[in-house]
Amino acid sequence: MKSYAIERELVHAPSVLDDFPSPLPSTSSIVVVGVGYVGLPLAILAASKKYRAIGFDIDEAKISRLTKRDANYITDEEQELLRKQDNISFTSREDDIWHASAYIICVPTPVKADHTPDLEPLKNASRIVGRHLSRGSLVVIESTVNPGACEDVALPILESESGLEAESDFYFAHCPERVNPGDVKWNVRTIPRVIGAIGEESLAQAIALYQNLLDAPLQAMPSIKEAEAVKMVENAFRDINIAFVNELAMSFDRAGIDLLSVIEGASSKPFAFMPHIPGCGVGGHCIPVDPYYLIRYGEKNGFEHRFLLTARLTNQKMPKYAVRRLSHALRQKKRLLRGSTVALLGLAYKKDIPDHRESPALEIEKELRAKGARVRTFDPFVPKLSSEGTLEDALQGADVAVIATDHTFFRALTPENFTRAGVDIIIDGRNCLDKKAFQESGVTYRGIGR
Ligand SMILES: NC(=O)c1ccc[n+]([C@@H]2O[C@H](COP(=O)([O-])OP(=O)(O)OC[C@H]3O[C@@H](n4cnc5c(N)ncnc54)[C@H](O)[C@@H]3O)[C@@H](O)[C@H]2O)c1
Repeated sequence: MKSYAIERELVHAPSVLDDFPSPLPSTSSIVVVGVGYVGLPLAILAASKKYRAIGFDIDEAKISRLTKRDANYITDEEQELLRKQDNISFTSREDDIWHASAYIICVPTPVKADHTPDLEPLKNASRIVGRHLSRGSLVVIESTVNPGACEDVALPILESESGLEAESDFYFAHCPERVNPGDVKWNVRTIPRVIGAIGEESLAQAIALYQNLLDAPLQAMPSIKEAEAVKMVENAFRDINIAFVNELAMSFDRAGIDLLSVIEGASSKPFAFMPHIPGCGVGGHCIPVDPYYLIRYGEKNGFEHRFLLTARLTNQKMPKYAVRRLSHALRQKKRLLRGSTVALLGLAYKKDIPDHRESPALEIEKELRAKGARVRTFDPFVPKLSSEGTLEDALQGADVAVIATDHTFFRALTPENFTRAGVDIIIDGRNCLDKKAFQESGVTYRGIGR
């Protein structure tokens, strides 16, 4: 297995055809392994670009829903596209994925209870792909992994299962996904990507494929390790910046300074400042998870990522901080959290999507119950976890409310929505309500840093 140093270059889609071999013919088949938040939009995109797309997943219930075009976790636009495609199929049968031109692995990369990386799904997917790989196929890993995982974990499995050698028999690359669920502008088709590969041929093949799939620039990375590190750094950067404003929020709340106004003021500087907004916690499959991949990778190399660990711990304590804000507001009115009825609005980890993985809202719910509160939950995007079917039901008879997700639906709420139901304290965990309007209405309003 050779490793090449490839000169760093920015590859813009239109020019790449001059330098790289022809992309896969549009009749080629692409197997997307793992059709979740990342894999499904990619499979739909491949089908829309006239590839024969096969979405493979071990979750048979998901496959059965997707076969019926039931896919509520992608955007309306993507669902529409899916309904129109006839060159896409879904399967859990390994027999259906023989001899594809490309296999793109989009399986989860979670952490275990002790926050160490769980690479089992990646290993399993590599075994499955390895068993069905043919000479000339391209394998791309899109899952987020620490540097070294593609070459040291996935690749040996692919080679031993297939009996083939990377770069000479099949092509191998890493193209970390950057998708931002719910974002209509920046989606699987429009987000620029970085690609690292095991050698020049693999890089050329991967670039040719993605150049065909995306309407976005591609950046060739000198190695797979550096492509892996790009994604780690992006998500760690976000975690750290959010932790910084969350720390400021906890400090400024004591001082009576509105951090949101401060951030707005600082944003008037036209360079070297990037606004981040404090909140009741960080959720999802990426930001609370990926920094641990880098932290553990550092540990393996004898390095302690103290800064990253501090950021993680800071963000982890924000759900409890939101509950403390509520307890404090209640005590000021000579009331207790124990025995109060709390309407918890929002269960998803971010706005306008149903994803509730690692959601701070769930931590808030746990903490409220642990402190003896009665909790009513409502999220229009997550009905299966909501105890109430409507906002009115959630607020009816509640004493206080906590906003844990800034769904557009919640952002539009006015003081009357709450006062009508007798709710007189609101913890705006996403700083998404009109603070002035709420204060003027006589409601006790507390944001995070606001
Ligand atoms: N969700 C995001 O916003 C996002 C953004 C960028 C990157 N990522 C990364 O992309 C990867 C996938 O994330 P996701 O959010 O799509 O996860 P997901 O849980 O929504 O989907 C993953 C799918 O893979 C399937 N799967 C698991 N093991 C499999 C196997 N051996 N063979 C076939 N299918 C298998 C699961 O059943 C699931 O349907 C992760 O590494 C994640 O960190 C996610």
